[in-house]
Amino acid sequence: MALLIGMLVASYMQASAGLDALKQFGISSLHAGHLDRLNLLLLDAQSATRGYALTEDPAYRTSFQASAKKIQDTILVINQDHQTEQRPNTIELIKKAQALVTHLERGNRMIERGMALDKAWIDRGTMAMDAYKMQHTTMRAELLTDNLKNVRQSVSGFENARISTVLLSIASLMLLVLAIAQKQKKQELREEINHMLEAENERLERDVRHRTEELTNLATYLTEVREAEKLHLAREMHDELGALLTAAKLDADWIERKLPPESRTLVAQRLARLRQSLIGGITLKRRITNDLRPALLYDLGLINALRALIDEFRQGEEIEVKADLPETEPELSEAVSLSLFRIVQEAFTNIRKYARAHHVSVTLHVTSTGIEISIEDDGVGFDLDSPKLARHGLAGIKHRVFTHGGELDIDTAPDAGVKIRVVLPADAGGETRHQHRAGDRRQEPGGAAGLNRASDRPG
Ligand SMILES: Nc1ncnc2c1ncn2[C@@H]1O[C@H](COP(=O)(O)OP(=O)(O)OP(=O)(O)O)[C@@H](O)[C@H]1O
Ligand SMILES: [Mg+2]
Repeated sequence: MALLIGMLVASYMQASAGLDALKQFGISSLHAGHLDRLNLLLLDAQSATRGYALTEDPAYRTSFQASAKKIQDTILVINQDHQTEQRPNTIELIKKAQALVTHLERGNRMIERGMALDKAWIDRGTMAMDAYKMQHTTMRAELLTDNLKNVRQSVSGFENARISTVLLSIASLMLLVLAIAQKQKKQELREEINHMLEAENERLERDVRHRTEELTNLATYLTEVREAEKLHLAREMHDELGALLTAAKLDADWIERKLPPESRTLVAQRLARLRQSLIGGITLKRRITNDLRPALLYDLGLINALRALIDEFRQGEEIEVKADLPETEPELSEAVSLSLFRIVQEAFTNIRKYARAHHVSVTLHVTSTGIEISIEDDGVGFDLDSPKLARHGLAGIKHRVFTHGGELDIDTAPDAGVKIRVVLPADAGGETRHQHRAGDRRQEPGGAAGLNRASDRPG
């Protein structure tokens, strides 16, 4: 680029130099014209003087005077023309022209007075004319040399400018070709980078899909294992611990009955405390068992289990709870029933922990395409985008919904309550359709299996 600018400046300067030389040539030509005019006028003056001498006709005298005046004017112009260059030559020329004019004037006056022009006058005139002509020739030659020099300069200036212009054009062309090549290269590079980025993106997406799948499988596995362990623990507690506690209570009853009346008063207080402790143990065992395995859910179905859960929630809190549940049990798989039950359990736990709500409503609708459940509170709500929310309760709900291929919608904002809406498809997961088997119900000491406060509920 700097080279291009340099060439452009050089080309401009060379063209300017050519133009200047041309201008100078014009000026020199003008000056030469003035010199030629002086020459002609002097010749005219000389001819007029000769004519006057031969004919004595006053018209020649008048013509001489006119020429003499023009000569003076032309001398002034020539004097102006050469103020600096050729100044000594000009002064000399003017001096010689003036001498010639003066000589001719004197001749004219002699004729006027009736005198004949002698040889001496003619010789002096010839000398004056020769001297003038020599000076004129010298000046014309110099002017011609100057002109030639100017023309050469002008031609060389234009020639150089032409070369510069050609070079400039070639350089511009090369630059253009270079720019196009560079642009092409950049485009190729950009395309290559885009391809690489696309490939990398695809790889990352594959990785993320793979990891997500792995994590989802792990979460599903953990949820299932947790539920299976809870079930196992509930059975163990019911079968083993329940049997032990019941046997201990029966033994305590037997001892009380068999004791002689005199010793009975002695141990009555301790025996009553023992029986109380055993009843407390049995109740506690029943509560834990129910939390681990919501017996109502398995025995009487989801709707009954939810009603019991809602009743228990009502008792625990000073919150008005509205329930809109269907009258009949929908036909659902065990897995779906358990998931819906756990979702409501988690939502209640959260309301209890954070919401400070006055009203809660639970609705469940069965449609031809699926089952929709929503739990809504009018509490403090929360900011869904807050990074602090990476907890397990809502994540667990999300995962359960995802596992069954359903939809989850959490609608909340600070001071705007929370509405959790879950829709599961009608044929959602689970191999076993829930069978409401009242006869299957495991009867435990202490009465019907109810739902109690959760000690290890999710959340
Ligand atoms: N009904 C609600 N009202 C107000 N805030 C809620 C409600 N439900 C959830 N939150 C907010 O959302 C957060 C995340 O709830 P989530 O159940 O996932 O976790 P957690 O209850 O804090 O912990 P975890 O359930 O793992 O024991 C809560 O910490 C709470 O700030
Ligand atoms: Mg929670």
